[in-house]
Amino acid sequence: MRLVLLGAPGAGKGTQAMKLIDKCGIPQISTGDILRKAVADGTPLGKEAKSYMDSGGLVPDTVVIGLVKERLAQDDCEKGYILDGFPRTTPQAEALDAELASMNTPLTDALSVDVPMDDLMKRLTGRRTCKACKQMYNVHFSAPQKEGVCDKCGGELMQRDDDKEDTIKNRLEVYQKSTAPLIDYYKGKGILKSVEGTGSIDDIFNKVCSMLNA
Ligand code: AP5
Repeated sequence: MRLVLLGAPGAGKGTQAMKLIDKCGIPQISTGDILRKAVADGTPLGKEAKSYMDSGGLVPDTVVIGLVKERLAQDDCEKGYILDGFPRTTPQAEALDAELASMNTPLTDALSVDVPMDDLMKRLTGRRTCKACKQMYNVHFSAPQKEGVCDKCGGELMQRDDDKEDTIKNRLEVYQKSTAPLIDYYKGKGILKSVEGTGSIDDIFNKVCSMLNA
């Protein structure tokens, strides 16, 4: 399976990707995670990306496309992968198609996770992530047993820098303008599937698995 996950910030792309990794044994490629690590490590890429991310804008296409091409060339992608947060613009989608055509490995699926805009703010302001194992929680919907501590591994929970109300508003606007058009892009390619992203995480995952034959 070579899958693109589409959906607004907070739609649950990362949550469903984590479950697909466990079930299918293929890697998740999250450009957001790669960029956040570069910011935390203080690399030249991180320094360039930080101001875009802090404002809720997009990192330039050329930077992100280069990152993904490098990642796709790694051995663990041979059996398939889940692209989470990439592509986010039409030029990114076209560059991905061109790269995969040159490798003779086109995408098999694009899955849109659809959640009403009104729900997204609460999901994002409430999100907490374990620094150690990346397990995700939400103080409104799925709080950890002990505040600030991961149920799974005891690690410290953190809140993302871009999960502040003003930044979230901008991220949602950027999504509507630059990324939502990709739904039609993949519809046109005949590989789009859509899942309702509200309800229990496990119910959504069951629907995702049957849509993807996973
Ligand atoms: P990125 O990290 O990709 O963030 P995003 O797209 O904004 O998506 P999120 O990670 O916020 O949401 P998600 O859909 O994964 O939801 P999650 O599962 O976490 O990008 C961050 C930034 O990096 C961008 O703004 C940009 O600057 C830059 N960037 C990244 N990629 C780029 C690219 N390709 N080009 C240019 N720039 C790029 O869930 C959210 C919360 O909801 C969690 O608390 C979770 O527990 C909860 N939740 C999940 N499912 C449910 C449910 N069914 N019911 C209730 N709560 C739920």
